[in-house]
Amino acid sequence: MEVVIVDSPSQVAQEAASRVLDYLHTNPTANIGLATGSTQQGIYQLLIDAYNEGRIDFGKNHFFQLDEYLGVPETSPTSFQHVLKSHFLEHVGVADGVLQVLDGNADDLESECSEFEHAIASAGGIDLQLLGIGRNGHIGFNEPGSAFDSRTRVVELQIETVQSNSHYFESEDRVPRHAITQGLATIMAAKFVLLIATGEAKAPALASMLCSPQSVATPASILQQHPNLIVILDKAAARDLP
Ligand code: F6R
Repeated sequence: MEVVIVDSPSQVAQEAASRVLDYLHTNPTANIGLATGSTQQGIYQLLIDAYNEGRIDFGKNHFFQLDEYLGVPETSPTSFQHVLKSHFLEHVGVADGVLQVLDGNADDLESECSEFEHAIASAGGIDLQLLGIGRNGHIGFNEPGSAFDSRTRVVELQIETVQSNSHYFESEDRVPRHAITQGLATIMAAKFVLLIATGEAKAPALASMLCSPQSVATPASILQQHPNLIVILDKAAARDLP
């Protein structure tokens, strides 16, 4: 594991985007797992800039969604699928369909989950997985208590996550209580994982993830076992690290 601590959120985005670009230059056909959330926005903008400047071509990549709310229309600005398309994929010249979505409106959610796992396996696995971390230590929507051997499935969101994400919705009671997420074992199977975090609110979660014994109470702590993990933090998020 490599932990990189920089001064500011914009430096986190720069360092992370530069690691992604380095990785894609040597792995141009990589399958990429995409996280949503405010922390990721800077990376996506820098990747768009790199594309516009001719420094990267995403034409040979396939993309996999990390998680999605249940019951949010895919055209809603709060749908993760919509965010990934409108904030990134639509700006980097990739064809429709290169994003393997998690459909939170599927009639048969169990089949949706198993088909998603099958799609990852058929593509040869996820090469690069981008991640953020929740204040409660979640990755994807794997909330505290999630089994380390979990795969893609429907989960119930904890109140802390609902509250953290409520600013994207009209009010807290409009935040979906359920989501569909890659499981912890699904995430662990990615060949390279890049997790970023910024801000003091994430400091306790980062300390538990990196310094406490592995525990389902901090789902991100499973990553201590990942053979190829880079964690990029700003000073505020690293506040509680020794
Ligand atoms: C989003 C996701 C979540 C977020 C986490 C941090 O796809 O999987 O785990 O990465 O909640 O969100 P932000 O960056 O908004 O603080």
